[in-house]
Amino acid sequence: MTGGALTADGRALILNDGHQMPLLGLGVWQTRDGRDCVDAVRWALELGYRHIDTAQAYGNEESVGTGLLASGVPRDEVFITTKFFPGNPDPVAALEQSLRRLRVDHVDLYIIHWPQGGATWAWPGMERARELGYARSVGVSNFNVAQLDEVIGAGTIPPAVNQVQFSSFEYRRGLLEACQRRGVVLEAYSPLGTGRHLGDETVRRVADRVGRTPAQVLLRWCIQRDVPVIPKSTHRERIEANGDIFGFQLSDQDVRDLDALDRTGGTDRALEHPWW
Ligand code: A2P
Repeated sequence: MTGGALTADGRALILNDGHQMPLLGLGVWQTRDGRDCVDAVRWALELGYRHIDTAQAYGNEESVGTGLLASGVPRDEVFITTKFFPGNPDPVAALEQSLRRLRVDHVDLYIIHWPQGGATWAWPGMERARELGYARSVGVSNFNVAQLDEVIGAGTIPPAVNQVQFSSFEYRRGLLEACQRRGVVLEAYSPLGTGRHLGDETVRRVADRVGRTPAQVLLRWCIQRDVPVIPKSTHRERIEANGDIFGFQLSDQDVRDLDALDRTGGTDRALEHPWW
């Protein structure tokens, strides 16, 4: 299976392992553990989100689990991602702990958070986690094309997803096209530039033109490319507005104006400044 085809309702993608992933998710990076995170997750689910993205490194999986329970939305309607912290030696043991914190019996997607120590060493453990039923799909994050190819070459199955920093300002066209050619879904983190891109003049101009907010414009730009987005917010009204991105279209001109904001030169790199 190639991966990346849209479902009939246009709200999810079919991954290369046959599972479906909603295009819109709530990200909880930099969301404080406790009340902030519990509320954000509960609100998102109440407002119709069906996808939550957390990580072992965020320290808030327990609050994600509490928010999920508090929402009353059945577990099997929600797509949950967590990420393997690669400072830990064993993806399976680390995921067992995540499942306990999240209070679920599997996650929908488990990805290597970054290629610390090389691209391939953790992959057998990721595949094992999938075989054990702890994760429906497995993938990577912050992997460039060469690292992706190493994993594909070494593994029994290819990654379903590569989650990277991606927006019209970080328009990694080379990486996006390489992922598409390999049937790997590129997923966008920091689609609002952690808030930095919201005040940009071009984004505001397009937002005025389409009668939407700058955040909705930046998110829609990803959705129109079939790129899943996981905007973060701890404000209910922002979570609601960020989810309201399926009822309008950016014109070709709007998309071209936003494409021109790219500062990566269409790179196939995952990150300009790796932190590991
Ligand atoms: P807050 O959590 O206080 O609402 P990204 O998803 O790119 O990481 O961006 C997240 C940042 O953008 C957070 O600081 C968040 O602030 C802010 N943010 C998210 N949605 C909106 C919105 N609709 N309007 C303004 N700021 C937003």
